[in-house]
Amino acid sequence: MSPESPPSPAAPETLPPSEAAFARAAALLRGGGLVAFPTETVYGLGADATSDAAVAGIFAAKDRPQFNPLIVHFTDAEAAEAEVVFDDRARQVAAALWPGPLTLVLPRRADSRLSLLCSAGLASQAVRVPAHPIAQRLLREAGLPLAAPSANASGRISPTEAAHVVASLGARVPLILDGGPCAVGLESTVLDLSGPQAVILRPGAVTSQDLTPSAGSVLEVVAAAEAGDSGGLKGPGMMASHYAPGHPVRLEATEVAANEALLAFGPEVPVGAAETLNLSPSGELREAAAHLFAYLHRLDSLPVRAIAVMPVPTSGLGAAINDRLRRAAAPRASR
Ligand code: TXA
Ligand code: MG
Repeated sequence: MSPESPPSPAAPETLPPSEAAFARAAALLRGGGLVAFPTETVYGLGADATSDAAVAGIFAAKDRPQFNPLIVHFTDAEAAEAEVVFDDRARQVAAALWPGPLTLVLPRRADSRLSLLCSAGLASQAVRVPAHPIAQRLLREAGLPLAAPSANASGRISPTEAAHVVASLGARVPLILDGGPCAVGLESTVLDLSGPQAVILRPGAVTSQDLTPSAGSVLEVVAAAEAGDSGGLKGPGMMASHYAPGHPVRLEATEVAANEALLAFGPEVPVGAAETLNLSPSGELREAAAHLFAYLHRLDSLPVRAIAVMPVPTSGLGAAINDRLRRAAAPRASR
């Protein structure tokens, strides 16, 4: 009943962040290999972003459609500026919100060393400076920009714990740096600054209110789950069913059946579910975001007919949580 594709027989190595682990990870990356590592948002599957072969390894390990471009991670904004074009607005946003859970889509520089596979044929490149100390140290020790999508098989729920990476990718990733659960728990906000209008392509912990002081007016794209699935959107990864558990997902549940698992929110929870996990009994959105993917993984492993999800408020971080829930519930294009 596992929602994930079966892992390869050999297990990957999962190491706590010791000196030796960083040295091994950096050597693997410099040799063109893959390393999964924690960021404050979710675990990433990293590879040398300047190597076509290494980046191709990411697509192969994830079974990822080639048209879906990758975020490249840097130690700081200055390193990112070597690969993409920053204007004043982009510099202000980066100064205000990096390092942190924010990805910027910017024009690729003509002299960029990044593999063209990272931008998947687009003129723009997504760049991010993560705050997580393990991600920061790995970037520094490898001495490379790291292309890193979420470390899950394509179309599946993002990993917020090392065990989720093992379950989803198995031995397709040789080494996982284990930093425990990710604090934010949702993927980074993706902000497109490649044109005159700043556009949020994917909502996340950094909200439009956080962005307006540095980015000016910010547009939010209509969630693909509402607008209809499309591989041709500006955010090509924004396919409706991008965050699919194995079980059907029923949203806005106010009551629950005995053969359903319940993903609850807040103090008043309907009774009768086969199993209930509460994202935040006190109704806090930050706590709910941090638990979201881990709880979906757990409920999805149960022998139930469906996962029922209680309503979650849409304000602030709730926009990003509801975006991921809509995708989890969206009809599956190809299963
Ligand atoms: O929090 C995160 O962003 C995690 C950690 C590991 O950094 N990474 C992550 O990567 O979620 P991924 O590949 O699963 O999602 C990247 C998103 C996709 O929706 C992709 O389509 C979009 O960013 N994206 C990447 N490059 C883009 C570009 N040039 N233009 C528009 N969207 C882009
Ligand atoms: Mg992903």
